[in-house]
Amino acid sequence: MSKWAELQRLHDVNKGRHILDLFDEGRAGDFSVTADGMLFDYSKTNIDSATRAALVRLAEVSGVAEKRAAMFSGEKINDTEGRAVLHVALRAGDEAVIRVDGQDVLPEVRRIRAACAAFARDVRSGAFQGQGGRITDVVNIGIGGSDLGPAMATLALAPYHDGPRCHFVSNVDGAHIHDVLQGLDPTTTLVIVASKTFTTIETMTNADTAKRWMAAKVADPAAQFAAVSTARDRTSAYGIDPARVFGFEDWVGGRYSMWGPIGLALMIAVGPERFEEFLAGGRAMDEHFLTAPFAANMPVMLALVGIWHNQICGHATRAVLPYDQRLARLPAYLQQLEMESNGKRVAIDGSDLETHSGPVVWGEPGTNGQHAFYQLIHQGTRVVPCEFLVARRGHEPDLVHQHLLLVANCLAQAEALLRGRSLDEARAIMARKGLTGAELERQARHRVFPGNRPSTVLAYDRLTPFTLGQIIALYEHRVFVEGVILGINSYDQWGVELGKELALALQPVLEGKAGTEGKDGSTAALVEFLR
Ligand code: F6P
Repeated sequence: MSKWAELQRLHDVNKGRHILDLFDEGRAGDFSVTADGMLFDYSKTNIDSATRAALVRLAEVSGVAEKRAAMFSGEKINDTEGRAVLHVALRAGDEAVIRVDGQDVLPEVRRIRAACAAFARDVRSGAFQGQGGRITDVVNIGIGGSDLGPAMATLALAPYHDGPRCHFVSNVDGAHIHDVLQGLDPTTTLVIVASKTFTTIETMTNADTAKRWMAAKVADPAAQFAAVSTARDRTSAYGIDPARVFGFEDWVGGRYSMWGPIGLALMIAVGPERFEEFLAGGRAMDEHFLTAPFAANMPVMLALVGIWHNQICGHATRAVLPYDQRLARLPAYLQQLEMESNGKRVAIDGSDLETHSGPVVWGEPGTNGQHAFYQLIHQGTRVVPCEFLVARRGHEPDLVHQHLLLVANCLAQAEALLRGRSLDEARAIMARKGLTGAELERQARHRVFPGNRPSTVLAYDRLTPFTLGQIIALYEHRVFVEGVILGINSYDQWGVELGKELALALQPVLEGKAGTEGKDGSTAALVEFLR
């Protein structure tokens, strides 16, 4: 019998019921998980005890515990690339030992972290200077995992900024680098070229542009460049002093890399001590993930709720809705983390997946989204499971009333999704407005909310470096658990290659150096229009 059968059966039996009917006195506590001060409430989903038990069994029979042990011990679980998956090593504690090919990798991780911290301190204190004086601005040039993590985290931790201003350039669109460099002083700007491979065309093109921009004003532009990469030979060839090159190993995937030197811009912005707190938050979540029983394990339950909604209930997307403006880039960050990791159509053995791959992930901060796309979430014909995030406290003591309004909105949206508004309630509202007969009926139907729409809430005290570390590690492990259950390799990304190859081939065509022979009619016509 398929490992999915019991869950399919429970879904078919229960799909007509209302989530509200599941609530008894204990449900909110019973259907939530805590970890180091953080609460994950999944009581507003159509999961009952039997369903949860079946989900936990699914995780067990899929080998989540065994694969988790394999990952943490440095086994090469990324087996289409023959690599270990050890982003957890970047935040491991002082006592930890993790071996790859028999060699403990942590002494080198600690050495590089110390080198990054020393450089960050020098930049922050003015010991490292630009050719026009103290560094005022840092420009991180990278894309994907070499951009989204540090950019998201730098915004998230804005209240802790006490270093130079940090900017992020990712898009090959010249408008991006143009707009960022405009207004900066090349003599006091530090450029960090962040690229695991140091071959990514967007990043290298932007790095060349930044170098030219700097060369117009400073004698030795390379002296104001630093690099973060696994490809030390290429960074040297690029002319960056090895003393300012911070390496990492191929067992760190790009989208999992912000814990190491890819986080350098963040470290410069908030300081190495705050960065350590961020690592400690990730480490606390690792510890929880490794030790808590599945039903009380936050990453496991977050993953199982995701599997329930996507693979069992058939909801193809999930919305990530942070009621925390400084997490504005979290949905974009999670798009890469989740969709590049679990957007795969074949299992590890090369066979077709038995079920759908990971969901489409999207979202925006609340309350902004409420005034944009929540209409569809509440009254559209498709169900979108919603994942809310919210803090008990903000960072603005003078604006507590605004924070309370924010929290009220978050909880109200989850409540509205759950409860909805019946036709009778809508009729009563219309009657109070004086409507009668057919017009009352017509207007009332527009004001019905079906309700019974699932959502979860991740609640935490305050968005500190520690909390951010917990949140990011939580989602990383969720992706891992979902990937194991789906039977896929979450750590390669072959699906990004074809477009890159075709873009390289099209560049000379657009430059007029090659013709459109062999191109489909649409591409050829668009080339004609655009060149
Ligand atoms: O194209 C996808 C990708 O390889 C991502 O996985 C990665 O995060 C991004 O490009 C950037 O790669 P790099 O850090 O090597 O420049």
